[in-house]
Amino acid sequence: MIAGSRMSTEYPKVKISEKEARGIAENLYGITGGFFALPGEIDFNFRIDAGGKSYLLKVGRPGAKQDFLEFQLALLQHVSQSDTGIISPVPIPDLQGNYIPEIKDDDGRTRKVRLFSWVEGRLWSEVNPVSRDLLYSLGEEAGRLTRALQGFNHPLAEREFEWDVAQAAWTRDYLKLFKEENQEILKFFLDQYENFLERYGKLRKSLVHNDANDNNVLVSEDQARPRVRAIIDFGDAIFTQVINDLAVTLAYAVMDLPDPLGAAIPVVTGYHSQFPLEEDELEVLYVLVAMRLVISVSKSAINKEKEPDNEYLQISDAQAWELLKKWRTISADFALFSFRQACGLPAHPREKEFKEWASEHPVALTSLFPGIQKEQVHPLDLSVSGTWIGDRDEANDLDLFQLKIDRLQKEVPEKLIAGGYLEPRAIYSTSAYERTGNYGKESRSIHLGIDFWVPPGTPVHALFDGEVVCAVNDAGDKEYGGLIILRHLAGDLPFYTLHGHQTLESVLKLKEGGKIRKGEPVGVIGSPPENGNWAPHLHFQLMLSMLNHRDDFPGVAYPSEMDIWRSLCPDPNMLFQLRDLVAKPIPEPSETMAYRKEHLGKSLSLSYDEPLKMVRGDGVFLIDHLGRKFLDTVNNVAHVGHEHPRVVRTGQKQMAVLNTNTRYLHDNINIFTRELLSTFPGELSVVHLVNSGSEANELALRMARTCTGQMDVIAMEVGYHGNTTGCVSISSYKFDGKGGTGAPEHTHVVPLPDRFRGVHRGEESGPLYAEHVRERIDQIHSLGREPAAFICESIMSCGGQIELPDRFLELAYAHVRKAGGLCIADEVQVGCGRVGREFWGFQLHGVVPDIVTIGKPIGNGHPLAAVVCTRTVADAFANGMEYFNTFGGNPVSCAIGTEVLRVVRDEKLQQNALDTGNYLKNELRKMQKQFPVIGDVRGQGLFLGIELCDRDLTPQTEKAAYLANRMKEMGILMSTDGRDVNVMKVKPPMVFYREHADQLLEALQRILHEDFMQL
Ligand SMILES: Cc1ncc(COP(=O)(O)O)c(C=O)c1O
Repeated sequence: MIAGSRMSTEYPKVKISEKEARGIAENLYGITGGFFALPGEIDFNFRIDAGGKSYLLKVGRPGAKQDFLEFQLALLQHVSQSDTGIISPVPIPDLQGNYIPEIKDDDGRTRKVRLFSWVEGRLWSEVNPVSRDLLYSLGEEAGRLTRALQGFNHPLAEREFEWDVAQAAWTRDYLKLFKEENQEILKFFLDQYENFLERYGKLRKSLVHNDANDNNVLVSEDQARPRVRAIIDFGDAIFTQVINDLAVTLAYAVMDLPDPLGAAIPVVTGYHSQFPLEEDELEVLYVLVAMRLVISVSKSAINKEKEPDNEYLQISDAQAWELLKKWRTISADFALFSFRQACGLPAHPREKEFKEWASEHPVALTSLFPGIQKEQVHPLDLSVSGTWIGDRDEANDLDLFQLKIDRLQKEVPEKLIAGGYLEPRAIYSTSAYERTGNYGKESRSIHLGIDFWVPPGTPVHALFDGEVVCAVNDAGDKEYGGLIILRHLAGDLPFYTLHGHQTLESVLKLKEGGKIRKGEPVGVIGSPPENGNWAPHLHFQLMLSMLNHRDDFPGVAYPSEMDIWRSLCPDPNMLFQLRDLVAKPIPEPSETMAYRKEHLGKSLSLSYDEPLKMVRGDGVFLIDHLGRKFLDTVNNVAHVGHEHPRVVRTGQKQMAVLNTNTRYLHDNINIFTRELLSTFPGELSVVHLVNSGSEANELALRMARTCTGQMDVIAMEVGYHGNTTGCVSISSYKFDGKGGTGAPEHTHVVPLPDRFRGVHRGEESGPLYAEHVRERIDQIHSLGREPAAFICESIMSCGGQIELPDRFLELAYAHVRKAGGLCIADEVQVGCGRVGREFWGFQLHGVVPDIVTIGKPIGNGHPLAAVVCTRTVADAFANGMEYFNTFGGNPVSCAIGTEVLRVVRDEKLQQNALDTGNYLKNELRKMQKQFPVIGDVRGQGLFLGIELCDRDLTPQTEKAAYLANRMKEMGILMSTDGRDVNVMKVKPPMVFYREHADQLLEALQRILHEDFMQL
């Protein structure tokens, strides 16, 4: 509920008890059954469950007006007979056929009674989250209801009513009830409202519901994909401008959301899909939403005067005020453009007109830069997927950037370097480009102008006659610096040209309000830092509205608003009409997917219901094709951070010099080997370099089989060791999973040592699980064979981040060795400092394997892997058959591996894994107490698992999938795994610090509160 409750103090005196209600239902309707009293503002309401049906019984107050009830009755009958599919309470007559029978209460007063069919659903106010789809479905339902009400009217619908937005002018008389700053807000909207009254009065009218507040909207029980089922309570229905109904719906629907305008869009789209809106209606919608809130806070203020001690009134008021204040900061123009775009119209009403004008008024590049006699451009791609710009450090190194521009300019001396319209860019890294939207953090990335990379000191000239509307120093890092905005006319259509990054001296010479003639100077290209700290260039942009801006104007937009800005800021190349400046459309991920589906193997899976297209990595973030940043808690491959500059440069440099194979001597292979071995216990002293984890395990298998002369391998349940035939044959995750055909002859699986939900539970279960290893050895012996090897990850990853219980490895290794087998530790996922306390996972268990396989992290994304073993194993393997690997151990890979190890050391990433991992684990354990769906929190360092299950330990697979998808919507990547795919895995790049842990925790907290996550 929001402010303006119409609760009355006489309520207790006229109350109808449940007992009385039972009597009424039985006498009038012959209905007996379960009775539940419901809250009601005016009537006394009861739900009755009888004979497999449910009803709503309403008993009125003494003196309820017959004609008003008849109006309601006729209205509901009209709606229930419409062909719109609207669900609404259907009136039911009493045994005598009366729809509004009367009874006498205990005090002899007449009460009017009504019975309706019950409408199932949850209240909107109880639904969490309010998703885009739900907002859309609210709009759809509201539009459908308006449609259903067409053609119906009643004399009482045209009554005086304070809650009718069309009659809101009364609120001006109560301004004095508010403090000054609040008065300013109310006046602002009232002024605008009164200004358009004449136009507004001419808009189409009909009878509308007029009160789709969060307690009148019923939502389906589906917790994952809820839809609005019905809008109930027609007590406020009124004959008024149709658009008022949408305004009322919006005023409640967008409350409490960080970005109310963003939330309004799907509602408008949904409404329009069912009841097409007219352009004139959209023009007043922004103010009408506010006016409903103005009525609400005014009613509330009046009630507060009457009941100053009523705390409820104060609280309910706060939400409406919060929204009013936010709404006030939104530009009315921008709201209009957004609503138009939501209805499939060009966001700017005159966009087409401008385009036509521009096509008839082309300008030459030399008009903008008369000092540079160049007519053609060379396009420069600075988009998020572009490679010219390099990584973040390179992009921010202004000297380097300029050097590259100069070099490029030498290659194309006759052309002007330019581009960037609607380009998604990742270079806007300051917090000024960020906000918290309805679905987590978002950053502005879509570039709205064209950048011309011309030398500092180049004069810039006006393209058209105009007036200076802004001549300022837009100071600050990554701002415009010297900025000029001119206002021009295309016929009678005003438009603006923006010229950013000029010298202060040249800009401040011009005076706001001053006239400029075509061809006159508007500034001179500036240098850093006065130009906002960029390599020198002109940012040139067109706008069809200044919105609410005076001294600035966005040059970059949020991806979610791109289509609105595209219309508001047309392509400047409409003026220049140069082929090389034509903005390249951003390819949709669906295009990429279509090709992939056709030409790549179907067994390659894609993450998420709506797959992501990643085009850039940066530390702990991945960035998609629109420049949206995702916190990555999945990719332990990018061990020291996505595209770590030291690792990248090392690889680039070595690649430029030499890349051969291990048949030649090369220092890189020795250096890498030495650095790698320094992290191992002395017994593990020989290295073979390969290209992937699979290859490493394949080689480890061959080594074990060659050394022992045996074939049989003991492997873990739900273990995964790689994609080759050999690896799949020892991966229960595969052969026991979809498409698998069970364990092959020589593989013997031992139970997953899961002390939380496994066959043995609790801290003491290690020896019990090790016993299964012994049993398998007995089984192999019974076949007349010996084990070749036992392979186990040091923390089971695909198994669901299962930490091995104490003593399991120690005892299992002892059994295997006693039988002559070798022990292989698969460190492909967990190695290289990730577990925090130790550098390698097996060290957590005080054992030394015979063979260790290393993969993913060691190359930080470059295909590099290794097998480290004892001298005995290495010598036994070298039986004369050469081991050649074309790519394994090449100088580039070795340089990269060395650099990864050095970065881990220099940036103290193992220590960070310990500190941040412990912090995160502790916080998650606290969360576990709050949310019973978290069954277990486990893991070491930055290799953690959150297992979702109910109180009986039944795995909650769907909840895990929901959580991963919702986290993605919040800008955080998480993966799920485990035998029942109910474990959320946390294994981010090791540059995941406390701030990132907090971001993760905050989002988890939010989503764990959502309906679908409840047990
Ligand atoms: C534990 C484990 N071992 C081996 C592999 C195989 O590594 P790759 O995919 O590099 O071949 C994987 C891959 O996910 C793994 O998780």
